[in-house]
Amino acid sequence: MTDSAPGRNPLRGRRVALGVTGSIAAYKAVAIASSLTQQGALVDVVMTPEATRLVQPLSFQAITHRPVAWDMFELLAATEIGHVSIGHGADLLVVAPATAHSIAKLALGLADDMLGTTALATLAPGLIAPAMETNMWLHPATQGHLATLRARGWTVVEPESGHLASGASGEGRLAPPEMIVDVAKHLLAQGGDLSGWRVIVTAGGTREPIDPVRYVSNRSSGKMGYAAAEAARDRGAVVTLITTTGQQPPAGITTVDVEQATKMRDAVVAAFAEIDVLVMAAAVADYAPIEIAPDKIKKSGSSMLLELALTPDILGEVAGLGSNGQRPLIVGFAAETENLVENARAKLARKRLDLIVANDVSQPGGVFASDANKVTMIRSDGTSIDLPLLPKIDVAHALWDEVLAARRAGRGR
Ligand code: CTP
Repeated sequence: MTDSAPGRNPLRGRRVALGVTGSIAAYKAVAIASSLTQQGALVDVVMTPEATRLVQPLSFQAITHRPVAWDMFELLAATEIGHVSIGHGADLLVVAPATAHSIAKLALGLADDMLGTTALATLAPGLIAPAMETNMWLHPATQGHLATLRARGWTVVEPESGHLASGASGEGRLAPPEMIVDVAKHLLAQGGDLSGWRVIVTAGGTREPIDPVRYVSNRSSGKMGYAAAEAARDRGAVVTLITTTGQQPPAGITTVDVEQATKMRDAVVAAFAEIDVLVMAAAVADYAPIEIAPDKIKKSGSSMLLELALTPDILGEVAGLGSNGQRPLIVGFAAETENLVENARAKLARKRLDLIVANDVSQPGGVFASDANKVTMIRSDGTSIDLPLLPKIDVAHALWDEVLAARRAGRGR
């Protein structure tokens, strides 16, 4: 998973109240606090008394560079509103790990400790990541309390299966800290400059089957498409990623898994009427085998011929589905090995795009599996911007800046 460009990370400058309760997994909250802090959030850790028996508050204080709250009455003495001030200031409340006991207390609205008062006093969205023994997790009491919290708007990051503190293996293990942080990011992205936008990004090289075990494909890793999807999510868009890679995207992004160009075309066309922006970052095969052998093709003779036919040109098809004003903004990519800008300009015009992102794929080492990319973006009026070699997530943000500018200039619907 890529990390957002520092200035664009929805965690930057935001206040996160991190509730830590008395689960053996409490030590993992140190990693959560660390990641949130490194990404620019101001983290106020609120520990239950039980949690302080498992992890020293000093660990959190050293990592967040902020005082840790656990004794409500100490805070009351310090300031009149001490027990609610963290809740009032928070942009997001994260409770991780959450024990069965703390989930029950939060569902009931009990306020006998700092976490309880913080949860009641805050208007910020809540994220809860349970961790406990399997039977406790599956118990109707726990599930009932979680249903109450969900109904109240909390986001639950469910535990996973794995080794538990009891020595047994089963459901109840805290979700990975990076997943919890990613969901926090998604929640804080609401209200970004792409809020209310519905976007589709395609990613990866299509796989055109020859027989049940072989396919024709290309070197695309899908990383640029995933970065474009993540950047849009981090700016508040509702994102669907149509992908050939099968990789899990960041939290909050819906995926549609496809293999062939025809299936990608079907998925794009099916969603096209509902979206504001289409970003075609996928490397769609231009040709696919005419026949797909039902059984594995056996070796015979010293050579073989594979007959290929043109695949549908997805951008070409959707560009005709509405004139400017009625159709979404459309961004294409051009991977070229020669005459980069000239070829990309021709594609922009031929496919009636609003923006094309051109990259030179002849560079030594290639850009496909890399985390960085050097691109030239060409606008519909023919003007272009040369970007330096940048992490793909930064290229993605530059792309969305251009899309936003085009939309503000009246393009798209
Ligand atoms: N594309 C598409 N459908 C295809 C092939 C490509 O929608 N069948 C899209 C790609 O996702 C990309 C853009 O068109 O955004 C340009 O892809 P590229 O392969 O560079 O262009 P082609 O039109 O295939 O031209 P050529 O292969 O001749 O360079």
